[in-house]
Amino acid sequence: MTYDDAIKALSNDALKFVKDDYTIGLGSGRAATALVKSLAKLIKLKGYNIRGVPTSLQIKLIAEEGGIPLVEADQVQHIDVVFDGADQIDSQKYVIKGGGGALLRENILFSLAKKVVVMADKTKFVKNFNRTVPVEIHPLARNSLIKSIKKLGGEAHVRSLDRGYPFFTENGNIILDCDFGTIKNPKVLTQKIKQIPGALESGIFLRRPDVIYKAKENGKYDII
Ligand code: A5P
Repeated sequence: MTYDDAIKALSNDALKFVKDDYTIGLGSGRAATALVKSLAKLIKLKGYNIRGVPTSLQIKLIAEEGGIPLVEADQVQHIDVVFDGADQIDSQKYVIKGGGGALLRENILFSLAKKVVVMADKTKFVKNFNRTVPVEIHPLARNSLIKSIKKLGGEAHVRSLDRGYPFFTENGNIILDCDFGTIKNPKVLTQKIKQIPGALESGIFLRRPDVIYKAKENGKYDII
């Protein structure tokens, strides 16, 4: 049994938050992929009239493959439930997101959602955040942002692909991965980051999940 088995099992359990006629936010990454595959099966089985709102092309392709009808975020007034993964979850239940670069759209959906369900394996749960915070920025603000992040006590690096080319988000922006060491006050930090001109989104989201699934290495999971 592995974390992947647990993610698969909890994805099926999380479908209990889905009802007919729901508008559902589809996060990005491995956990969201497992959920979307289970959701596709549920829709076919029950004949539900569901609209999925994708946060990235990555998840859009998975949803299309499963035959889930899709709409964009600007075509809906609200989202009934959003399902997503996370890069880290602290003891106050704040999440760091953006490991895959989809943070801007993910945060829009979190803010529109009546219910936020986050799914992650046990290794991502920490007392205080201690990994880099992804920050989506306008490319022209790169140097000014690196300086501003330094003033906040962080070391910022432009995210790049394997061969050294810069990583561009689906919105045409770049990502700064910012190392702040241990983060004791994520709320204040993310508010400060978002005040910097050219900073378009911070990977620390202010909206905390309503339900958190913790996948365990024995294939089981806890609900927090
Ligand atoms: C996408 O930008 C991220 O926020 C992902 O949701 C996050 O990296 C979790 O991904 P995994 O489920 O693949 O670990």
